[in-house]
Amino acid sequence: MRKNKNNKPIWSTRTKKNVSTLFKKVGGSLSIDKRLFKEDIMASIAHVEMLHKQKIIDFKVKNKIIWGLKRIKNEIIKKKFIFNYELEDIHMNIENRLFELIGDDAGYVHTARSRNDQVITDLKLWLKEATKKIIILLDNTNSNILNLAQKNIKTIIPGFTHLKNAQPISLAHYLLAYVEMFKRDKKKFENNLEFLDENPLGVGALSGTSFKIDRNYTTKKLKFKKPTNNSIDTVSDRDFVLDFLYSSLACSIHISRIAEELIIWNSDAFNLISLNDKLVTGSSIMPQKKNPDPLEYLRGKTGTFIGNINSMISILKGLPISYFKDLQDDKEIVFKSSDQLKISLSLLNDVVKNLIVNKKKMLSLAEKGFITATDLTDYMVKELGYPFRKAYLQTAKIINLAEKKSKRLHELDLKELNQIEPNLNSGVYEILDLENSINSKKSYGGTSFENVKKMIKKEKLKNV
Ligand code: ARG
Repeated sequence: MRKNKNNKPIWSTRTKKNVSTLFKKVGGSLSIDKRLFKEDIMASIAHVEMLHKQKIIDFKVKNKIIWGLKRIKNEIIKKKFIFNYELEDIHMNIENRLFELIGDDAGYVHTARSRNDQVITDLKLWLKEATKKIIILLDNTNSNILNLAQKNIKTIIPGFTHLKNAQPISLAHYLLAYVEMFKRDKKKFENNLEFLDENPLGVGALSGTSFKIDRNYTTKKLKFKKPTNNSIDTVSDRDFVLDFLYSSLACSIHISRIAEELIIWNSDAFNLISLNDKLVTGSSIMPQKKNPDPLEYLRGKTGTFIGNINSMISILKGLPISYFKDLQDDKEIVFKSSDQLKISLSLLNDVVKNLIVNKKKMLSLAEKGFITATDLTDYMVKELGYPFRKAYLQTAKIINLAEKKSKRLHELDLKELNQIEPNLNSGVYEILDLENSINSKKSYGGTSFENVKKMIKKEKLKNV
């Protein structure tokens, strides 16, 4: 006998009154979890195949259920499915429709499972796919950054600390720093797959089941690696959600730092880059404006990721283990982070592809701020055998002189240099040259053109 007649929830035999209108409105999750319909059907099919293999349901029932589930999937894809918001969530909607399609045999589908294991199975399956898509986007991002780096090995830019000129570097070296950041993000998402690969299906409401189910079978069918170990932990655990949210947040923080940097570089004060007109917007009052709105959008959206992980940790903190309604919010949070990360990475890719590098301005900025001062210090240590601190002080004095005379370091003649440091000879001018400075940084991970070239090659090979 079908229990869920008249649009009533399955538990209405027990509850004498209709649930309050307000709670019915806010307590359901259908508008959010309908996105899990494919995963839900996939998991239900694996479940009934297992039930049949274990002789818990017969062949005919199994086939009828699978036929119904496939039909439901098609109806949803073709937008012919009528979602019933009276029925709380996607799981109840699918089950209800199955009753309509195949009658009382639909009642076998929920044997030996609960929505508690069902919903995490769906979410894990969904997150595995989302994670893989994000990994592909991260690969695309890095390959676009590498292409830009390839074109800018010999582009000289000041490396900044405190936003003050520090030491000259290759722009490609700078860009390779971004590549490292996204490689770490990729690794985080890859690592997350380990826990996502544990199959929750079959733990029931919280204690397991007395039916002789085969969890290894559904594990294989659903392409998980192993079943989870403890039924209570399984229905409680949302660590895999936190992992996803944190990985997304870390990635978005990287994006925001890059965006901020590019906003600074794009400013009229720096003018080191500009953006293709595709990626700027104007002002409603100031006709001259070309604003880097997409970069500001990327920087700002990091707030959303911070908010999302904050919501989830607040839900989990102090929540007794097993299932509670509080957990229902996990999906909305995950979807928001996942959707936004995909948008943010795609937009960043557009930015990288449409970035115009103002090489002349980069070079002229690099010529300012006594940027080869450290090279001069190192030179005195190497050539004159001075302790580093003595060389540092001599260099500082030379800088003071240059500043007084409004000259750059290499514009001081030897006489002027010798006033402060008599042991310097004309060989010193070589090390004051920007390109020579960069190329002297041959230590592993340093900015020499040769290093950078090799690193790009290595990364490109890895990234194919
Ligand atoms: N819609 C619910 C959720 O997303 C499914 C699990 C319901 N379980 C329960 N015991 N009420 O969390």
